[in-house]
Amino acid sequence: MSMTLRSNRSTLTQFLIEERRRFPGASGDFNALILDVALACKGIAKAVAYGELAGVMGNHAAEDGGSVNVQGETQKKLDVLSNDVFMQRTEWAGNLAGMASEEMEQPYQIPAQYPRGNYLIVFDPLDGSSNIDVNVSVGSIFSILRAPQEVIDSGRDVVEADFLQPGTRQLAAGYALYGPTTMLVLTVGDGVNGFTLDPNLGEFMLTHPKLRIPEDTQEFAINASNARFWEAPVKRYVDECLAGKTGARGKDFNMRWIASMVAEAHRILMRGGVFMYPRDTKDPAKPGRLRLLYEANPVGMIMEQAGGRASTGEVPMLGVQPTSLHQRIGFVFGSKNEVERIERYHREPVSVELTNPLFAERSLFRD
Ligand code: AHG
Ligand code: MN
Ligand code: MN
Repeated sequence: MSMTLRSNRSTLTQFLIEERRRFPGASGDFNALILDVALACKGIAKAVAYGELAGVMGNHAAEDGGSVNVQGETQKKLDVLSNDVFMQRTEWAGNLAGMASEEMEQPYQIPAQYPRGNYLIVFDPLDGSSNIDVNVSVGSIFSILRAPQEVIDSGRDVVEADFLQPGTRQLAAGYALYGPTTMLVLTVGDGVNGFTLDPNLGEFMLTHPKLRIPEDTQEFAINASNARFWEAPVKRYVDECLAGKTGARGKDFNMRWIASMVAEAHRILMRGGVFMYPRDTKDPAKPGRLRLLYEANPVGMIMEQAGGRASTGEVPMLGVQPTSLHQRIGFVFGSKNEVERIERYHREPVSVELTNPLFAERSLFRD
């Protein structure tokens, strides 16, 4: 099959240069950093695609230096490899003051032979890694912050506290999705743009300019095996979706669960939907499954920049003051009106209908 490829699309480089013209004083460091991140993502895309052929599938063996990360989760070889690619592609250029990653307990210091810069990057090098061995889409997520001025001035080593900035302070955020095509979705605080990797040119091309999320949806995503641990407002919301046309919502809903948040975020960006990994009572030590700094905040910024909403379930995600690098949090995002509804359910007192099955079909207490 022959395909005619459109040649008038912008490359990521062209897009960034044109964006920068809005800030005549900008040094270009920031763009250089984004392009290094994009190169890291291309490298990871190749590693994921060659997976079995290159012998990089499976768990990271203990004799190779590890097997469990700071989260207490088994590391895959590709988790470790992706982490290395991210570091190697971004550490050398003098744009970063330091980095932090899901796969490293402590912040990573820029090696002494390289200059240090103004930015911090926080990343999840491979999200959804339980899906790698079954050949389902995975991705990378990143968040870029400005380093505290005193770090920039002194050039000192970074510490955890330097990264504990609320999501509103992110300068840029994005993810790469390694699916049937490799995509990079990026916000620099002026909307959200999607780029598709052209495998012939090795360039990310602007294919999805100015993405917007529909405000309403009939599709939701949640891991229903946790239902017995959900809080009452979440249970209410999901019950109403499941009740469909005959229930309080008066419309049927569809459900999806990929178990790669990056892939779910992308689906929602393309056609709307709501994603929930709410705080639950499964493990009191873990208030939610997802991590604030390198999952919830960057995906949250993308959602908000595309006209969607990102929340803890109760309050806007981007306003949360982080307390630790690997902090977990309940995360609800997607189509604005559904996320607001879930927040509203958290504010409303739990009504009798939720605890008494006799009231389950009645709409008296519902809107
Ligand atoms: P990671 O692979 O970086 O640890 O993240 C996996 C996350 C997220 O991508 C996904 O939504 C969720 O974990 C899946 O959780 P379940 O295993 O409960 O489905
Ligand atoms: Mn992840
Ligand atoms: Mn990960």
